[in-house]
Amino acid sequence: MNRYDDPSLLLEKLKEYEGIVGWKSPSNIALIKYWGKYANQIPLNPSISFTLSQAFTQTTISYHSKIKRSEKVETTFYFEGKLNQEFAKRVKNYLDALLPIFPFLTQLDLTIKSDNSFPHSSGIASSASSMSALALCLCSMEKQLFGTLEDKDEFFRKASFVARMGSGSACRSIYPKAAIWGESIDYEESSDFYAIPAKLALHEKFRRFRDDILIVSKEAKSISSSDGHKIMSNHVFREPRISQAKKRLHFLLKALKEGNYNRFGEIVEKEALTLHGMMMTSTPAYILMEPNTIKIIQEIQNFRNMTGLPVYFSLDAGPNVHMLYPASIEDKVHAFVENDLVKYCKNGEYIKDYLGSGPMELDFH
Ligand code: PMV
Repeated sequence: MNRYDDPSLLLEKLKEYEGIVGWKSPSNIALIKYWGKYANQIPLNPSISFTLSQAFTQTTISYHSKIKRSEKVETTFYFEGKLNQEFAKRVKNYLDALLPIFPFLTQLDLTIKSDNSFPHSSGIASSASSMSALALCLCSMEKQLFGTLEDKDEFFRKASFVARMGSGSACRSIYPKAAIWGESIDYEESSDFYAIPAKLALHEKFRRFRDDILIVSKEAKSISSSDGHKIMSNHVFREPRISQAKKRLHFLLKALKEGNYNRFGEIVEKEALTLHGMMMTSTPAYILMEPNTIKIIQEIQNFRNMTGLPVYFSLDAGPNVHMLYPASIEDKVHAFVENDLVKYCKNGEYIKDYLGSGPMELDFH
């Protein structure tokens, strides 16, 4: 039993219920990476991410009482306007796993509609935005039907907990600007079960940070993140990696608080390379970077050395490069992208993103 299991959340029989809820929720880029998990999505190490803005998922759930009673979750799932059986199956498995938390889901017929702001096949991780949007919708349903979760902090904490069950990194997308997930001695209130906002830890200099996502490839990954996490359980560097991540989080928090770009960049770039280093030294060993990933990284380092501007790279579990820098140097950096980087991007594509204000509830009135 976890703190959110609640068998009493059942609707009165014979009464009619219907309604609609909706949320727009962003993706995030981890600065200290969550890599490896155990039990029910419990992270091996604490992580911190910047919440993005332009890469988001918008999800609505409309519901009404079931005409024919059954003990199963019944959903119809539309992705970008079309019925999508593959996603429907994944969502159904997720909702089934959430029944101890939201038992009322078997009493309703659900129609879920989901749209991404970025192309699904762009190689951008969509699980953080899609799972956080869905989790927020489920909490809004609970609030609408039972009058619970009136307290904002409790609402978002539960949404983060529920999002984590869908995709670990999704639990961090619930909060504006930056979020921390996983127990850390640096944050007393941090938890392995949900993320917490890291807003107060951010120096003014980081509040208007940019993240240009340079699309190197749109191909599906050879090894999914979920398999990557599993492989970490027996990784030869498992223990040193856990203590390294904890130490780096400590020093990164300090850099974020003090507005220290150099220290920030040094840690963030090492983290990105460590993530891929873990993949390359695992069993099986695998490589997700592409030749153009390396070219872009080298161009960014050269540009920084030549100009002295604070521009840094990060990587997700894939070949695309996230370029992080303050908004004040945006024009110079965009000229650099156009002159030196777009030639390495698939169809010259990149997404201009930035630190965002977190998820937004949709208004149906
Ligand atoms: O949430 P998942 O299972 O998709 O894993 C995400 C893992 C990384 O993106 C590589 C790191 C992170 O902390 O987001």
